[in-house]
Amino acid sequence: MDYAADTRCIHGNGHKFEDGNNAISFPIYQTASFSHLTPGHNLNGFDYTRESNPTRAYLEETVSSLEYAYDTVAFASGMAAIATVFELFKPGDHIIVGEDLYGGVVRLITQICKKNGYETEYVDTSDINALKKALRADTKAVYFETPTNPMMHITDIKAVAAIAHEKGARVIVDNTFMTPCFQNPLKEGADIVVHSGTKYLSGHNDTICGFVCSAEKETADRIRLLSKTTGATLGPFEAWLCMRGLKTLSLRMERHKSNAEAVKEYLAGKKGVSKVYYAGSGMISFTVESPELAVSILKNVKLITFAESLGGTESLITYPCVQTHPDVPKEQRERLGITDSLLRLSVGIENPADIIADLDSAFAAAAKETGEDLE
Ligand SMILES: Cc1ncc(COP(=O)(O)O)c(C=O)c1O
Repeated sequence: MDYAADTRCIHGNGHKFEDGNNAISFPIYQTASFSHLTPGHNLNGFDYTRESNPTRAYLEETVSSLEYAYDTVAFASGMAAIATVFELFKPGDHIIVGEDLYGGVVRLITQICKKNGYETEYVDTSDINALKKALRADTKAVYFETPTNPMMHITDIKAVAAIAHEKGARVIVDNTFMTPCFQNPLKEGADIVVHSGTKYLSGHNDTICGFVCSAEKETADRIRLLSKTTGATLGPFEAWLCMRGLKTLSLRMERHKSNAEAVKEYLAGKKGVSKVYYAGSGMISFTVESPELAVSILKNVKLITFAESLGGTESLITYPCVQTHPDVPKEQRERLGITDSLLRLSVGIENPADIIADLDSAFAAAAKETGEDLE
């Protein structure tokens, strides 16, 4: 029987463990190595923690059950996961990437992967006709976020899968913003899902991790080979922290979303806010009337913290042009709307009235500082 998603956050799909002591919480196997019984034979298949570890394996099975994956590998960060996925390609391959992406992925493509000799092309994947035109016989993958970070554009995963698969291209989706609670890309036809597990999955702004979830065996085997060889796999303690966070994922996501909807309403009616971008989950981006106003708001929030990252219990506000997207060329940033007046808000799970009151007093203080009339 398949359990519902909120049950799977806690129990996976019913996988049990026996630690000999009847512990309820899965133990942290803080060990680098495991003893062998005879040459080539070890107790439960565990050999050396770079390759596999029981705590990490339990987490991976839980995430696999949430994402409907054949297999999942947990990495030391979202970027380690994504960099490993880009190792699937070879010189000459054509790879389409969404044009609005987390800045670290743009840096990976432009400053690291370039030497690998594959051709990456930016396309607005939310425009299926544009994608159709860009797909070629030698296109090996379409990689995108939906919604995108930070502009919240939505791509129709099913439609992308239909046209990409006709060309034999893999569909790779970053599901960090929606999480498996709100979206299951593998069920929509994607081949690979990546996550910054640092964000909603862990959920408490206290650990860095990432995931690659594969729909089928061949890709899964290759990702396992790459992960055990290049070695950026997740440590046992971080795996345990993420697992603890995951248990409350569905509860947190409901609250992130309802809080974000309340904050969105507030921002939509606030003088000085020129545009609000929202696509579900707990993330909101918005532009204000001037860069000075944006910087002053960042300075004047008190409950909300001016910091990079998202998806944790605490509300964070980010300045994408300086913090998350400085490596995206300025011309590309401006075209996408990542201007000096854009702010990104990760709405936490505090009382929504306190979050709104904090924003309101930051706007009032910023109005005084910049001389703008926001009443
Ligand atoms: C959408 C998205 N994907 C991937 C990453 C990278 O994840 P990490 O910071 O865990 O390496 C981030 C980081 O902010 C992100 O926002």
